[in-house]
Amino acid sequence: MIDVVPVSEAIGAEIRGVNLGYIDTNTLDQIHQSWISHCVLLFRDQEITARELVIFSKHFGDLDIAPPNENGQVGVDGFPEVLVLSNVKENGRPIGALGNGEAQWHTDMNYIDQPPLGSVLLGVEVPDQGGDTGFCNMYGALEELPDLLRRQINGGQIKHDSSTNSAGLLRKGADAVTDVTACPGAIHPIVRTHPETGRQALYLGRRRNAYIMGLTLANSEALLDELWAHATQPKYAWHHQWRVGDVIMWDNRCAMHRRDSFDENQRRIMHRTQIKDDELIQ
Ligand code: SIN
Repeated sequence: MIDVVPVSEAIGAEIRGVNLGYIDTNTLDQIHQSWISHCVLLFRDQEITARELVIFSKHFGDLDIAPPNENGQVGVDGFPEVLVLSNVKENGRPIGALGNGEAQWHTDMNYIDQPPLGSVLLGVEVPDQGGDTGFCNMYGALEELPDLLRRQINGGQIKHDSSTNSAGLLRKGADAVTDVTACPGAIHPIVRTHPETGRQALYLGRRRNAYIMGLTLANSEALLDELWAHATQPKYAWHHQWRVGDVIMWDNRCAMHRRDSFDENQRRIMHRTQIKDDELIQ
């Protein structure tokens, strides 16, 4: 049996006694069950390569090919499924996405029709301070949503802008957004049902350039502000301070995440895979 230790009251558990490079079916089943129950799992002290990260991630579904980052770069050499998040520059060019700034609360690739169901992130190099990653429980946020807000979003949908990333940078080839009601991006229900647990969760995606379909812009902005203020309360969140060799996997169907900024002179290199979802959000 694996050791499952909750890391907060809000969300997440640490899995102890597991080497992700050598894993059997029974352990995988337990990891899967724990993931579905806790939304976010932490594994410490994993000495795994990009290849092993890909093999581990594939146990949970097919993987996305990493999208080009804002610098137009794609994946780790030889492993196109592994996205590099980093502030490090080689020969004057960034080797990864997101730089050293804050990444605001979001779920991965909420702006496409079938966003990944989960993501797996490995700490390859981490700064001494800063760059913590936070996770927020969207089941909990929905369960405690005030009745009036719940009624206001009943049957509602959000349009999720695809032009800007969570660090506020325009994606390669995207046009600056001048009208959030008309910017490109997928439309998803505000309340979604997790296909494995049957539980409902808030699905907000990301705040910047979001728009609630059918409302005036002013009403959409006001309602989104209330929903975000509620969902991002500290009581729904847990924040992780990284060590090299940490692996975190999160369930994009019921958790949002964010990242703190860190000193630009410190190096941070993270490798991320994304597990495809073959179902539309319902
Ligand atoms: C992300 O996946 O959005 C960034 C997480 C991190 O770099 O900690």
